Amino acid sequence: RVSIVDLLRRPAEIIGADDKASHAAIPLPAELYRPQRENSHGIELGERKALGALTSAIAAEQKASPSVTPSTTEQANAAVAAARRGFKAWNATPATKRAAILDKAADLLEQRRAHFLALLQSEGGKTLDDALSEVREAIDFCRYYAALGQKLFGAGETMPGPTGESNVLELHGRGAFVAISPWNFPLAIFLGQVTAALMAGNAVIAKPAEQTPRIAAEAVALLRQAGVPPSALHLIQGDGAVGAALVAHTAIAGVVFTGSTEVARSINRTLAAKDGPIVPLIAETGGINAMIVDATALPEQVADDVVTSAFRSAGQRCSALRLLFVQDDVADRMIEMIAGAARELKIGDPSEPSTHIGPVIDADAKQRLDAHIVRMKQEARVHLAGEAPSGNFVAPHIFELSAAGQLKEEVFGPILHVVRYRADKLGEVLGAIEATGFGLTLGIHSRIDDTIEHVIDRLQVGNIYVNRNMIGAVVGVQPFGGSGLSGTGPKAGGPHYLARFASEQTITINT
Ligand code: SER
Repeated sequence: RVSIVDLLRRPAEIIGADDKASHAAIPLPAELYRPQRENSHGIELGERKALGALTSAIAAEQKASPSVTPSTTEQANAAVAAARRGFKAWNATPATKRAAILDKAADLLEQRRAHFLALLQSEGGKTLDDALSEVREAIDFCRYYAALGQKLFGAGETMPGPTGESNVLELHGRGAFVAISPWNFPLAIFLGQVTAALMAGNAVIAKPAEQTPRIAAEAVALLRQAGVPPSALHLIQGDGAVGAALVAHTAIAGVVFTGSTEVARSINRTLAAKDGPIVPLIAETGGINAMIVDATALPEQVADDVVTSAFRSAGQRCSALRLLFVQDDVADRMIEMIAGAARELKIGDPSEPSTHIGPVIDADAKQRLDAHIVRMKQEARVHLAGEAPSGNFVAPHIFELSAAGQLKEEVFGPILHVVRYRADKLGEVLGAIEATGFGLTLGIHSRIDDTIEHVIDRLQVGNIYVNRNMIGAVVGVQPFGGSGLSGTGPKAGGPHYLARFASEQTITINT
């Protein structure tokens, strides 16, 4: 493994800062896959304003059109049966053709970028920056899985064997695959799941979050336009009940789910209790994600990275920072700087280009977050309690806890919890992070190589970010996903992801 010390000494490579920036970490040739620029600051103010006006107009149009009707259990069952019928032909379609269809979908997404930006703003409450990043991520998923899939699902891999025998390992689709996706990345995670399952040769039944049905419907229309046959892709709209019916169906071959730990457990139980084939689950859930900041960290950088990690996207990312551990010698100053920077954030209409924080997803989410704020105001020291405009808005809050254990669950919003620690008690900090049971993202701000190495060696966390923010994993660059309460481990946007959607077949021929 590359030593952390070596990595720290390497000059920083900022994606998008230089078009020739090497993406040596990508296990694919650059002509097959290059991530889009992740840095949305590259958009000029004039273009931002024009986009803002366009997206507001499209959003108004969408608000006026009729709402999406939820599917019935009968429709869900019929979709599984139809996917089973569609599977054989799609699985037999050459991987190069499936990949070409995904590439075409990426082209269409690029062409219709403004339209999807508008949808993300009107239905998902995304700010312009967040919407831009999400469309880019969706395009990256299509292109990355297309490039990777051609390698994995092509001719098969010849295995070594004795003379007189040929051994080949082939990967195929599994069958009718259920994809259940969340509202917080209604385009990128929806398309990431669906394109991975399709690239592997599965027929897919997609069940998006009930809060964001239109984005899913338009993404499915786009995939069909790109060439995915209707028999290989089925859309089921509705809430958890219809999702549960899909999961309980005896004819499904796999489930990919992104959402809460509680729902992942319930899916797991349903799958385990069923008769018939053993059905795998790919689950990506949340985290009580921590960042450790010691006295050697650069304060301005910490303030910027904490604000980005905790408050961007209104804290509605599974990667977002929830629990900040700051060494006590520098804590007062750090907290003051973070609170000062957070106070500058503009909350409000997401279609306004200068907005930093849009609304939370719905009234239920706002109610849950408000209740947590009320409790924290009684139990913790308040460092920041901003005012939000009326509507489903929640202002950034910073609470200082006397112990990390006071935060018992993932709080999915712009609320940061801070805990001070003594330099000689880093072990207790690591123990507290382990005790959460989650393992999704972790941030470290330190200039001491030994500290960084020690923390990385000790904690089992899916994505660790050193001396930077801890959100916005880039497809093919920072494969994303966690373990423990955070999920079953597969890394979306990573080189091993597609294999989780596949069945493997070894063919031995005595020649
Ligand atoms: N993939 C997203 C991120 O890295 C997670 O929600 O921020």
